[in-house]
Amino acid sequence: MIRVGIVGMGIRGMMYARAVNESGLGRVEAVCDISERSRESAKALDIPVYASHQELYERATLDAVIIATPDFAHREPAVDAAARGLHLMIEKPLATSLEDAAAIRDAVRDAGVRCMIAFENRWNPAFVQARAAIARGEVGAVRWINARLNDTIWVPTGMLGWAARSSPGWFLLPHIADLAMWLSGARPRRVYAAGLRGQLSERGVDTWDALHVLVEWEPPMTTVFEVAWTLPESLPNVYDFKFELVGESGALFIDTQDQMVHQAGERWTYPGTLVSEIDGRLQGFPIWMTQRWLRGLAEGADLEPGVDQGYAVTRLCWAAHRSAEVGEPIEVGG
Ligand SMILES: NC(=O)c1ccc[n+]([C@@H]2O[C@H](COP(=O)([O-])OP(=O)(O)OC[C@H]3O[C@@H](n4cnc5c(N)ncnc54)[C@H](O)[C@@H]3O)[C@@H](O)[C@H]2O)c1
Repeated sequence: MIRVGIVGMGIRGMMYARAVNESGLGRVEAVCDISERSRESAKALDIPVYASHQELYERATLDAVIIATPDFAHREPAVDAAARGLHLMIEKPLATSLEDAAAIRDAVRDAGVRCMIAFENRWNPAFVQARAAIARGEVGAVRWINARLNDTIWVPTGMLGWAARSSPGWFLLPHIADLAMWLSGARPRRVYAAGLRGQLSERGVDTWDALHVLVEWEPPMTTVFEVAWTLPESLPNVYDFKFELVGESGALFIDTQDQMVHQAGERWTYPGTLVSEIDGRLQGFPIWMTQRWLRGLAEGADLEPGVDQGYAVTRLCWAAHRSAEVGEPIEVGG
């Protein structure tokens, strides 16, 4: 059994606690959170709940930790864990600055610990099928991708307490940037972006409302990404995720907003089916990702996507923000 600690017991930390404990592969020994409210909910786990990652690492006997703190707060707990020889799974984005991303990458390399970045859509059945079709040669070389991953305005104004210190370019873009790299095998070369602000800042969340990002890749491919945090709350699902990939001999059209069930009642909704409780256990792509991480640690198998991929995605997202700010393309090749 892998002995796991979790840093950050919000939405994701609580999900990971179930994923680990229900996996039969690991056990959560102790967790921590800086907020009293999150510590209160974590007490339901009946294990020690500490107020800082330093205390967690000092007092619990651990093999590995999951970093599930907000986007901008991964560096300190990740670097300190690596320095203690603890293996890692770190939430996406690896970081919200190149300096933080490089510090984590270097700490992981220097300590020789194993680290996976939680790009969960690599376990999402739709994208698993897409990758298999590409691997069978049914799509040919990928020429372009047109993807959007948008949230309703409730996500930055109601769900996340820290949205002003992130953006749709940090919270959402990493998912589709990683998928574009994973599905095409191409590397980003140049990033052009334009963005909108105003709706969120009027509501006290001073960050980008939306970013439109055009990327040129090597070998040649172009991608258009849209990420936004201001969709109307009346949408049937909290997110709208469309991903279209066109190759030389085939194309793939993915819609994960529509999860097969359309429910009518007080509202018209698309209930989530991709992550569900089945037989009393959480099932679905983030859970399968966690199991893969635990198996990788137990068996010494590959832990992909790793910290270098986390850094590459951070660099693309950083370039998108920079380009939108300065109105110029940003080179990311090399
Ligand atoms: N919610 C989602 O749908 C989702 C999906 C995929 C990935 N993620 C990623 O997971 C991470 C966490 O997101 P979340 O939705 O769980 O956020 P959240 O706000 O629900 O939880 C974050 C928790 O971390 C705690 N925290 C902050 N700084 C800390 C520190 N230094 N030490 C210990 N605890 C600390 C907060 O008090 C909070 O309880 C983010 O990077 C996010 O992008 C979230």
